[in-house]
Amino acid sequence: MKLINGITINNQLQEGYDSVTINSGTVFHADQLAEMVHFQDLHFRPQYEEHAYVAKRDWRSLTPVEIKQLQPKNECNTYNTVYLGELPGHLKDGFRELQLAGSKSRDEVFEKFYHDPGKVKAVNDRLHAFLSTLSANTPFYFHCLGTNFPNVEMVACDTTGLQKGYQPQDVKYMGIHNDGTTQMTVYTAHKFGNRISINLGNETRAFLFVNLSMIQAMNMLKKKIDVRAHNIHIGNICRYFFHHFPDYPVLRVQQKPYQYYIAPTDNCFHDGSTLGNSELDITLIYFGYFKC
Ligand SMILES: [Fe+2]
Repeated sequence: MKLINGITINNQLQEGYDSVTINSGTVFHADQLAEMVHFQDLHFRPQYEEHAYVAKRDWRSLTPVEIKQLQPKNECNTYNTVYLGELPGHLKDGFRELQLAGSKSRDEVFEKFYHDPGKVKAVNDRLHAFLSTLSANTPFYFHCLGTNFPNVEMVACDTTGLQKGYQPQDVKYMGIHNDGTTQMTVYTAHKFGNRISINLGNETRAFLFVNLSMIQAMNMLKKKIDVRAHNIHIGNICRYFFHHFPDYPVLRVQQKPYQYYIAPTDNCFHDGSTLGNSELDITLIYFGYFKC
């Protein structure tokens, strides 16, 4: 299936659109064996939630026509655009001083953060100044300092229902998904802002997304099924969409260390990926109404 005009990419990376590849769609998780994860003493094959879909692995470069489709034509805003950029030098230097990259565990990352409050405050001040420019002084909120194991094809997972002391192999990954909450509907998901995710690890990670808004996805589904009879809502639209449109392409953005993406993750299907990596993935995430 060909790419449809939808969410665009405002790309400020030096690599330009070389940082973006595209595939031929998604598959039900059981039809594509997950790669093993080997990290420290851990060796496991990621498991998925019952209804999960994952991106196919046939990534290729964008064609000139696809690049044109992804370039912004109208004014970019918080819900119709994925922004790609790189931290300014002074901010990179501040994070480098924390020496987070190469950490062996999530605990080690946090220990390094607490180890030197002076350095953390200095980088935090610079980060807030930078985020203020991206948010045009609208409020923004720290969401998390997240870690992921290397070589996990689709990193998103919900661990809130797991028992304390759960093992990494007990986690069920959710596959490509829209974030959303019960406050939102398919028709209001675009009103809740976006997120900025900064790669603080040593290795290039990936941000995968489908360039369709929730409303576009719903309108496509309406041509296939009776969405009222199937009670399609923000919580189940993902699995219906990928069931009916397995050939709709996914985009894969390479996110090198200290590069960031800004994306409306309530308003598009997406996930992160550390496939092919060998070190701990570290990302810093804020919510807000960012533009750049
Ligand atoms: Fe997400």
